[in-house]
Parts: sequence; structure tokens; C-alpha cells
Amino acid sequence: MSTDLEIVKNTNLKAKPEKDQLPFGRTFTDHMFVMDYETGKGWYEPRIIPYEPITLDPAAMIFHYGQTVFEGLKAYRANDGILLFRPDKNLERLNLSSERLSIPPIDEERVMGYLKELIHLEQDWVPSTPGTSLYVRPYIIATEPNLSVAPSNTYKLMIILSPVGSYFSGGLTPVKISVEDKFTRAVKGGTGMAKTAGNYSSAYQAQAKAYKDGNADVLWLDGVEKRYIEEVGSMNIFFKINGEVVTPELNGSILHGITRMSVIELLKKWGIPVTERKVSIDELHQLSEKGQLEEAFGTGTAAVISPVGELNWAGEKMIINNHEIGELSQKLYDTITGIQTGKLEDSQNWTV
Ligand code: COI
Repeated sequence: MSTDLEIVKNTNLKAKPEKDQLPFGRTFTDHMFVMDYETGKGWYEPRIIPYEPITLDPAAMIFHYGQTVFEGLKAYRANDGILLFRPDKNLERLNLSSERLSIPPIDEERVMGYLKELIHLEQDWVPSTPGTSLYVRPYIIATEPNLSVAPSNTYKLMIILSPVGSYFSGGLTPVKISVEDKFTRAVKGGTGMAKTAGNYSSAYQAQAKAYKDGNADVLWLDGVEKRYIEEVGSMNIFFKINGEVVTPELNGSILHGITRMSVIELLKKWGIPVTERKVSIDELHQLSEKGQLEEAFGTGTAAVISPVGELNWAGEKMIINNHEIGELSQKLYDTITGIQTGKLEDSQNWTV
């Protein structure tokens, strides 16, 4: 055990949800991790305590200027214990996001120890039905009561856990996605590559429009030309075109997805051509007209591999693979979830 970690056990444990009652992010476990930061003192008082509401000053800076970052990773039930998928990459990305938001970095190794302790304590909450997992949400908020437009001098790092099923309610069923041609998610030089709250809440207006027309989410285009594909917001996006897999290149406004990275590494290992490049919506439209847009799928921690069966853009409907799950999407889903749950050999040493 990390020696400086205090653990206060919850004596009032909750009933676990039914295994088919796991909508994304609605139920939380019995404990949470908290650690504080103060300028000059650094990160201090790491503790695991009963899950409970927290008290913040109404002037806390998180409420006013949104200085916050978060991560998302999952713990899976394997035959011989609980596995985490590339958690080091999440903590590395948390620091990358923090740097962009002027939040002090954490010691990744130290926090990894606390994270493992928390999951060890809550292991009974990791569900075992296929497609389920324990979603892990580390996040940092600015807590100093101060209305100045400047970085906070105090922060809280918290980790909460939620047993989850699939992110989209239809499971692996291909989703319809609306291509947003009015609103913008991010621009180069902005915060698009950081996991920060504002990137998500600023998507709600476009999301609402998309939902109204039966779409599950929004596909964002670049903020300048409204032409190049960026990402979905809840996931990165891939297309299979004439046997080649393409995904938008990381350009500063796209999230550095860990599932994205893993898919690229797997495709390379399998000898399937994969290219990170600019992909325009007109190119996709033309390919779709010619029947050459073979598959599309999103990748993300929450979304895993989510096949896309339809893209709706400016009144045009692009139907992909007849709304069926593509062979490659299925193979990637099976491989990634197989590795995550310890059912397939993890030759890349991705699981911990
Ligand atoms: C994740 O995949 O973990 C995400 O953060 C996406 C989303 C649920 C915000």
C-alpha cells in the first residue's frame, strides 16, 4: 500500500446495481479518492473516503472560469483478478491536459498507486457481464475562492468509480451520427486536445439538434474551413476506404485517444494499411456515392469500438455497410475487449 495514503472505510455500503441496469455513469461506488493541492505545498493528504458530496466555496474558481481536467479509463473483470487498460497513458494525458489548463502536474506513479488501491478496495463493484466494466473518472478542479481571471492556488484531485455497460444504449449496433456544419468544437491552438469540461458542454447545442433527428452523436468538422473531419467528442473516428483504414491526424484540436492509439498499433501489427491524415467530408461523400466507404467506427474508452452505420451531413445521408457491423470493426472490438478482459493474450503488455 502507498504509505502516505489514508483509508476511511464506508460502513454503510450500497446495494450493487442489477447487471443489466448499468446505464453509463449514473451509479457510483462506496468510496472515492481525494487529494488536495496548494501552491508552495504541492499535492498533499491523499485519502480514500466514503463516496459523499463535497463542499466548495461558491467563489471556487472551477465554477467561474472552468479550470478543470478529467480522464476516463476502465477496470475489467478477468478470470484471475481485475485489469486496467493502459492506465499509464491516462495519467500521462491528464498531465498533458493540466498543462494546457495551467493546473499543476501530478506525480503519475504516485497517483497510479492510489488508483490501484481504490480499485482494489472496490473490486466487488467491477461487473462481470460481457460488455461491462468499472469506469474510472479521475478529475481535477480549481478550488480557490477568487474571482480573478488567473490560475487557482488550490485544487482537488478526485477519482470516482461507476459500473457501466455500453456508452450508446444500443450496444454494438451501428449508430447514426450527424456531421455538424454550424457549430465548432475546437480550433488549432484552442483546448481541443485537452480533456476539459468546456469542450464537452459546448457541444450540447449541436448534440440536441442531432438527437432530435435520431442521431446518437455529432461528428465535428474543423473550425476554419468546416471541411475536415475532427472527432465525435465522445470518441475518435476511423474510416475503412478501399481496404485502407484512415483516421484524422492529431492536429492540436483532436483528443489523443488511447483506444485510437491502440487501434492504430493493432492494425499495423496485423499488416492492415492505416494512415493518419486529413480526411474531408466531401471525400467521404464521394466515396460513399461510389460505394467505397466500407466501414466507419468510433474509438474511445467509454465507446470502445462503436460502429457507425450512417453519417448525416447537410441533408445528405451516407449509409455505411448497410447499417451492419463491419468485419474489421467487429474484429477490433473482439480483440480490444478480449485483451482488456484477459481472454486474449496481451502481447503488447497493455493491461495492468
Ligand atoms: C471516455 O471515453 O472516457 C470519455 O471521456 C468520453 C466521454 C464519456 C466524455
